[in-house]
Amino acid sequence: MTISEFKTYFKTELSGLYTDSESAFLSSIFIEKITGFSSFDQRKLSDQELVIDDEKKLLKLISELKTSKPYQQILGETEFYGMTFFVDENVLIPRPETEELLEFAIKKIRSSVIQNEMKWSEKSTIDSSSLGMTNNPLKILDIGTGSGIIPLVLKKHFSQAEVTSIDFSEKALETARKNADFHQLQVNFIHADYLNFDLNQNFDIIISNPPYIGIDEEYEIADSVKEFEPKMALFSPTSDALIFYKKIAEDSKKYLNKDGLLFLEINQKLGPETLELYVDGFSEAELIKDLSENDRFIFGRK
Ligand SMILES: C[S@@+](CC[C@H](N)C(=O)[O-])C[C@H]1O[C@@H](n2cnc3c(N)ncnc32)[C@H](O)[C@@H]1O
Repeated sequence: MTISEFKTYFKTELSGLYTDSESAFLSSIFIEKITGFSSFDQRKLSDQELVIDDEKKLLKLISELKTSKPYQQILGETEFYGMTFFVDENVLIPRPETEELLEFAIKKIRSSVIQNEMKWSEKSTIDSSSLGMTNNPLKILDIGTGSGIIPLVLKKHFSQAEVTSIDFSEKALETARKNADFHQLQVNFIHADYLNFDLNQNFDIIISNPPYIGIDEEYEIADSVKEFEPKMALFSPTSDALIFYKKIAEDSKKYLNKDGLLFLEINQKLGPETLELYVDGFSEAELIKDLSENDRFIFGRK
């Protein structure tokens, strides 16, 4: 089978699951993964026969995709915010909304540091791309780390910050640590049940994308998501879909420093109720929409 014939076969076999453009994208990344040919090479060499071994591997990947397994889990990696992250069945596959959260957070942290330069200068010396701290680093807390995307992207952008991440899943933390090693970034990972954990220290930034799907919404979630992604990452452990947000609100009152910033990804159906939790004790609290115009983020300033 030539590369071009494989692409046609891929599209036909998966037409019930993917659109033509999704198939074109996926077949290209799978061919690259197995043969090493970039998409440019694939166009140039479209009439080249695939090596038998590679063809077998590619056909096996089609069978896996037919089970509705997410392609990122089949590949074992995904791109997020310009970085490559290992992913597996123990972590949530990073979502585009979380890239939006990070883009927003990075801008806000930078401008907040600049605005507060006098106040924060005791803690930080600013350079153009990162917060560089001498003896008192900017302290960032991420709650529910999964594959580690949030702490690792932040650590990459704020290289001198001290970043701490909590997750209750030891297996998710293994993947997060693997990602930290791959990118050679230092994050303090804590294995704990956040809902029963005393932070016991102050932070300048708290950020989280906690489980926020209520038990009553389970029927709305695609079977492929429920089957292949960890339930602990998706669903609130009780009938209260806001349980994490309530604890984060309490903790922010106690442990978020003055002028500290809070960034949360939220359940789009619970925007006003979630915002309500952050009105007291914050000088600013705002509900922010994502690119699809859904209520998706909370921004708070202490
Ligand atoms: C929605 S996922 C977010 C993962 C990652 N931050 C992201 O944005 O892709 C929520 C994460 O919270 C973790 N989690 C669930 N219950 C927890 C708990 N009680 N304490 C700490 N982490 C918890 C899950 O294991 C999962 O990794």
